Amino acid sequence: MIVTTNDLFRHAYGNYAVGAYNINNLEQTVGLFRGNLGKSKSNEEAVNKATSAPFIIQISRGARGYTDKRFLEGMIRNAEVVFPEAIFAVHLDHGTEETCYDCIESGFYSSVMIDASHELLAKNIEITRRVVERAHAQGIVVEAELGQLGGVEEDVVGSVCLTEPDEAVEFVEKSGCDSLAVAIGTSHGAYKFSGKQGLHFDVLEKIQKALPARFPLVMHGSSSVPKDWVDRINAAGGALKNASGVDEKQYLPAAKMGVCKVNIDTDGRLVWCAIHREYFRDKPEDFDLRGPGKVFMPAYADYIVHKNTMLGSAGQLEGVRASLGK
Ligand code: G3H
Ligand code: 13P
Ligand code: ZN
Repeated sequence: MIVTTNDLFRHAYGNYAVGAYNINNLEQTVGLFRGNLGKSKSNEEAVNKATSAPFIIQISRGARGYTDKRFLEGMIRNAEVVFPEAIFAVHLDHGTEETCYDCIESGFYSSVMIDASHELLAKNIEITRRVVERAHAQGIVVEAELGQLGGVEEDVVGSVCLTEPDEAVEFVEKSGCDSLAVAIGTSHGAYKFSGKQGLHFDVLEKIQKALPARFPLVMHGSSSVPKDWVDRINAAGGALKNASGVDEKQYLPAAKMGVCKVNIDTDGRLVWCAIHREYFRDKPEDFDLRGPGKVFMPAYADYIVHKNTMLGSAGQLEGVRASLGK
């Protein structure tokens, strides 16, 4: 069942965060649905209520252009039929104004992100406001972004890149957005922090206190870049040097401070890369694409179960269903 992100946030707020996972292909999609229904390697059929979770499928502009955006819609609509127990939102990740309108008109997306965070405050508000008006007219919710994730390094902490709590108040009020992505120290990709830097909980706390009660916050760039997966990639011929990510133990404290959506893309790519490198290293005579796919799908499902456990969303699916009256 496709719902809006805010339908999920109402249940999650202050207790856990919903995982927002990017997808690009069929194997990722199948692994993602299985994982969110708690279908593990040892039991691929039965839904495991103890670990099943609400989730958000994210589609980036890159994913839409990889083949044809209609293939993604076709896959997800079919996954909804194959996995009728699933409750999830379909979300455009880092949209431009034009892409947002395309998704709003499509009748498929339940949520869009307008990312005008590179613009000055007034222009970001103006663009976001226009998207909000078009989206709300169709029952679609809007995530916006304030602050800049990239380039926040140990030595420039406190720069204008982090989200300003006072600006966040003005932004939310004037733009009418339904959730806000904040820059609190994370960055996209596999090379996040230098030294001991982590999330800026002090900034997050100020933002939460300044905004209206129970206003949902979003954390981009939240992959944990697990060392064991990076080591497996490197041991199988990869060259990922000094990769690092968010400490998974910080997800729940962030959720308690209003973070309802945690974006994960890089970790999924790492799992994919490790499995495929290992597979062909160990079976040099093989050239069947389904071979590594069969290993990847259950491994990714298990990884999603682990991630949801760290986010606190594992085991929340039936609570969400009840909260929606379904
Ligand atoms: O935040 C960006 C996401 O990781 C999407 O990446 O544009 O390469 O699909 P992508
Ligand atoms: P990661 O690169 O940390 O996975 O972040 C993904 C993201 O924020 C997608 O919008
Ligand atoms: Zn992002």
